[in-house]
Amino acid sequence: MKSIISLLPLLTLTLATPTPINEQDCPSCTANIARYDDLTFNEGSYNPIPPHYYGLSYINFQVDQYDGFIPPTSGNQWAMAFGGSGNITVPDSPPRTVFNLHSFSYACVSGVPQPECAISIWGWKSNGQIITREITFPRLDPGHPIEDFKMNSTTFPREWRNLKSVGFSIARKDNDGDIYGGLALDDVKYTIKNKCPCPE
Ligand SMILES: *[C@@H]1O[C@H](CO)[C@@H](O)[C@H](O)[C@H]1NC(C)=O
Ligand SMILES: *[C@@H]1O[C@H](CO)[C@@H](O)[C@H](O)[C@H]1NC(C)=O
Repeated sequence: MKSIISLLPLLTLTLATPTPINEQDCPSCTANIARYDDLTFNEGSYNPIPPHYYGLSYINFQVDQYDGFIPPTSGNQWAMAFGGSGNITVPDSPPRTVFNLHSFSYACVSGVPQPECAISIWGWKSNGQIITREITFPRLDPGHPIEDFKMNSTTFPREWRNLKSVGFSIARKDNDGDIYGGLALDDVKYTIKNKCPCPE
């Protein structure tokens, strides 16, 4: 017999929703900020981001460390897709897990000079819907002190909820050509949840 204390959260949930929810199927929502600073980086090696890192898995992104060009927003590491395209995905297990994307810092990293960079973002939602968005990273010209080069950041509207996967790809903004660079992300803020109601 459970104590009344441990039953209290379950009772609250049951009151808030019409059908009773099995507590095991309904873990709490977890807000995360992935900063990548706690991951091991070995210079000259392949540095994959381990599966289920704060609840998400990365395809084509690696841990990468500050090399004196554009500084990561927090700490000295960020996630880098060296070819400019990659995915961030909820693992298949536990089932029915999705995430809400809130914000991140980003940079296209090719060198100086580099052209204006268009970053295409796809969101694959749990209901099968695919949403898209394009953001840009400004062109970088020579003749600037290194401190002028910074990551930019963006926030995502409500539409970017209940996602299974988010995909990225970069290109020159002016002619859609190859930018010959990578896409860096840092301080990726999101909430992992399953089909249970979560606070916004
Ligand atoms: C990213 O995920 C989507 C949806 O699952 C898939 O169609 C696409 O091929 C993936 N891209 C990569 C680079 O894995
Ligand atoms: C965006 O990045 C550019 C290039 O590094 C920088 O000059 C600019 O200040 C950044 N903008 C913001 C709002 O951080």
